Amino acid sequence: MGKNIAKSKHTFFFCDGGSCQKAGSEQVVRTARAYLRNNDLWNTTHTIKTRCNGRCEDAPTCIVHPGEFWYKELSPEKITHIVKGHIYNDCPIETELLYKEGWKEQVSSKEKAPIKPKPFEFKADEELGDCLITRGFSSDQYLYPLFLLLLEKSEGVTLYKPNYNPIPFKEIKDVVYSKAYTLELLTNTDCIEFIIAAVPIDDMALQKSKISITEYYYQKETNKTGIRFKNKFGKTLGKIEFNALDNKAWKYCTKIQLQNLTLDVSQL
Ligand code: FES
Repeated sequence: MGKNIAKSKHTFFFCDGGSCQKAGSEQVVRTARAYLRNNDLWNTTHTIKTRCNGRCEDAPTCIVHPGEFWYKELSPEKITHIVKGHIYNDCPIETELLYKEGWKEQVSSKEKAPIKPKPFEFKADEELGDCLITRGFSSDQYLYPLFLLLLEKSEGVTLYKPNYNPIPFKEIKDVVYSKAYTLELLTNTDCIEFIIAAVPIDDMALQKSKISITEYYYQKETNKTGIRFKNKFGKTLGKIEFNALDNKAWKYCTKIQLQNLTLDVSQL
């Protein structure tokens, strides 16, 4: 039988993402749950495992409600102390907190600087000729939104994929990301696939098909901008081309995907 949520007074959201697991989150959860079971707190305290909380550098993490208390660098010893603090005293253990509501800043000893795309650089590229080029992000958290946006702002956008004729993005009727690794672009007659999710390291076929490099470029010869997708071995898997420098979808790319990076074509 599931928990009666109406009786639950505290909820602990334990991160069970990859970094937290590596840092020992499972032991932390087991310790907390054992304490709750043995102290007759099971029915009034809820524990939930979550995916990544977005604070991997502070792993293992958990969030406690009511309130908004974020804990960092947990261990089995610390979690018992924290559980007792919240349940018996309604009081957080301040020294272990990453953040609580009302703080202006989070407190982390392991803060990492945000990763930003590098400025566009000149390159005499084998495929594109003289161009300005930079790398964007290639995780599915960037690529899926990118393709959805292209579906919405398809004017002047063309997709190139080996073994296909150029496909105006207007012909793409839907973008579906429901399979484990594969993004599907559906036209009236075709399903064009790209592998965009993290794939198993030992599956070479998937590794070769996965987009691991995403490059944004301005090509001097054509005066066009575009996006080139490559696998991790440097093989081109596809390209998107924009018809003009002020193309709406390209502007989105520089604003969102490239975090307001400036493209100065006078450098060429
Ligand atoms: S895996 Fe736990 S915060 Fe990212």
